[in-house]
Amino acid sequence: MKISIIGYGAMAKAILYGMENGKWEMENIEVVGRNIEKLKKIEKEFNIKTSFIDKYDITGKIVILAIKPYALQEVSMRIKGEADILISILAGKNLTKLKKYIKAKSYIRAMPNIAAKYQASTTAITGDEKAKEKAFEILSKIGDVFWVDNDDEIDMATAIIGSAPAFLAIIAEAISDGGVYIGLKRNVSEKLTRGLFKSFAAIKEDFPQIKNLVMSPRGTTAEGIKILENGGLRGIIMKGIINTYEKSKKV
Ligand SMILES: NC(=O)c1ccc[n+]([C@@H]2O[C@H](COP(=O)([O-])OP(=O)(O)OC[C@H]3O[C@@H](n4cnc5c(N)ncnc54)[C@H](OP(=O)(O)O)[C@@H]3O)[C@@H](O)[C@H]2O)c1
Repeated sequence: MKISIIGYGAMAKAILYGMENGKWEMENIEVVGRNIEKLKKIEKEFNIKTSFIDKYDITGKIVILAIKPYALQEVSMRIKGEADILISILAGKNLTKLKKYIKAKSYIRAMPNIAAKYQASTTAITGDEKAKEKAFEILSKIGDVFWVDNDDEIDMATAIIGSAPAFLAIIAEAISDGGVYIGLKRNVSEKLTRGLFKSFAAIKEDFPQIKNLVMSPRGTTAEGIKILENGGLRGIIMKGIINTYEKSKKV
């Protein structure tokens, strides 16, 4: 199956790395874009075919759209034909908008994250049932795939799956900085923080249960939790998710 990725930014590259590591036949992937220099770079980096965007014919291809959301209309005017399946990873551009601008036999909206590079993305998808199997086949190369009920759930998933890795990066950095503040060497603090995230991912209990297992009466964790609750950490993080979702409706 022929796949064309339109765009060569952070997310397109993460997908390419994931597919390469997942032993996808890279000779069947083509990257399409508007900057010849950047295309040449991608060509070298992944040893794949690239094409300039103007008059690029998407007919019969599976197209992964990985451009900036605001560029949808412009890109639609530069390409031609009708894709077999359009898989869009654009934040905020719902299926109605995708159908308005790009011709395809079927449509999938997907929300992956940058862990695609390590085949560890969590990807939410929705769209046409007839394209579901193919979309799963492709996107499972970059991690776990979950079908959600509708477009709005993709916007909601965007806040958690797409954006929250940046929130977690800030939290991880703060934990590591805290370790440095109390005296750990920077490299040790970073290593321990990474280890913490790995440990956390392996814990199967519900979130409140995890907290309750760690927070014992008059304990050290209870002291830290008092500070976090006083500072409104929960509310701030919830607000971050809510505002990200609301913003995704406006792009
Ligand atoms: N980054 C994430 O973690 C993440 C996660 C999930 C979904 N997404 C979605 O993935 C998409 C790409 O995000 P990104 O982080 O990869 O962005 P990025 O690194 O900034 O890359 C943006 C890509 O869009 C292209 N582009 C922008 N304007 C264009 C235009 N007018 N015509 C043709 N190409 C144009 C850029 O090409 P030039 O370099 O030539 O401008 C580049 O290839 C976005 O829609 C975003 O919502 C991102």
